[in-house]
Parts: sequence; structure tokens; C-alpha cells
Amino acid sequence: MSDKMVNIALPKGRLGEKAYKIFEDAGFGCPSINEAGTRKLIFENQENGVRFFWVKPSDVAIYVERGAADIGIAGKDILLEYRPDVYELLDLKMGKCRMCVASKKDFRDSTDKTLRVATKFPRIASEFYQSKSRSIDIIKLNGSIELAPILGLSDVIVDIVETGTTLRENDLEVIETIVNISARLIANKAGTKFKREEINSIIREIEKRIQ
Ligand code: PRP
Repeated sequence: MSDKMVNIALPKGRLGEKAYKIFEDAGFGCPSINEAGTRKLIFENQENGVRFFWVKPSDVAIYVERGAADIGIAGKDILLEYRPDVYELLDLKMGKCRMCVASKKDFRDSTDKTLRVATKFPRIASEFYQSKSRSIDIIKLNGSIELAPILGLSDVIVDIVETGTTLRENDLEVIETIVNISARLIANKAGTKFKREEINSIIREIEKRIQ
């Protein structure tokens, strides 16, 4: 793949589909990507020089950091958690949500006890509590984080809140917002040298379409 095609990593799922639409509107679409029911992971359009990959959202930054993708769409949560060595070029103003601390409604914190924190984001959680000089015990989970305080596995969770529905339906509530999150366009550091023209023309068109 040592050509001038721009390799673009998109996060599988709703955010990726919305992000793809921006590329499409900007004139960098790939019609075959919309074929229903396909399990293909790579789509390319020779005419406008783009090649898209669908990857797990938390893997986008790895593809971009290592140059398997020249650019990609990643949530700010992933960038804060993994600190990949990439350029963060644009805030796409989509995929907006918040990284929050949440707990059961009747939870009363007592600062003389180590706080048990369940999360998919151990670095974000650790840095947040470090800044408050609070000692915590991180319980790293991979999903359904909201179960942890309900089952007594943790006191609080540090997790993404978008609509708030998951918390509400499980009788949990936000205690504090740590940081606002949105999707970012990221780029490989070397790729922007070797394919500067190609990448810049995509970025220019996308920038015009960010609301
Ligand atoms: C995320 C997050 C919350 C939920 C928040 O989970 O971890 O559980 O979305 O969204 P809401 O505020 O709109 O309800 P995700 O769907 O990624 O699943 P998982 O973390 O359980 O894997």
C-alpha cells in the first residue's frame, strides 16, 4: 500500500457512520461502503484517492500512530486515555458526550476510605483523582460499567455519559463531570509529510463542513 491513496481509519458504529458522511459530503466518499450486509472491512475509491477501514473505535489511534492509517476519527476519550503520538487536527463537533463520575443515588463518600472506581479509562480516572489527592483503587472493566456500583463491586464509576439513559435506567446519577468529549480528526505524523497535498485537500474540505 505504498501509494498516494489516503488511508482513513473509521470507528465501527454510529459515530463512524456519521463521520463517513462528512467525508462523503466533502467529495471523498466511496460508494461501495454503503452496500448493505457486507462484512468487508476495507473500501477504496481510486478516483478520489481514499481508502477507508472500519476498526474498533478504541483501535483507531493505534492504526494512525503506527501509520497503517494516515488519518482517522477518534473520540477525545481515547486520545486522553492512550495518549497516542499523533496530530490532533480538527474537533469534528460530533459524538459529543461527557466523561463523568457516577454512583448510586444513596452513595455517600467518606474521604478517609480508599474510593473503589470501576472504569474502562484507568488513566483518565487516576489522573482525575490524583489532581484531588484522593487515593483510589481502580477496577478496570471492559464494558457494562454501570453494573459495578449496583453489585457492590465499586463505589463509583468513571464512564462516558451521552444521553444519560443508561445511568437513569439503572438508578445511578452523575456526581461530577471530568471532561467534555467529542470526535477528533487525527493524523499520522510522518504521513502528513509524505502525502501532505492529498491529506491537506481532504482536511480543507472537511473543515468547511464542521458545524
Ligand atoms: C457507553 C457508556 C455508557 C453509555 C452511555 O457504553 O459506557 O454505558 O454508552 O450512553 P447514554 O448516556 O446515552 O446512555 P457503550 O454503549 O459504549 O457500551 P459498553 O461501555 O457497555 O461496552
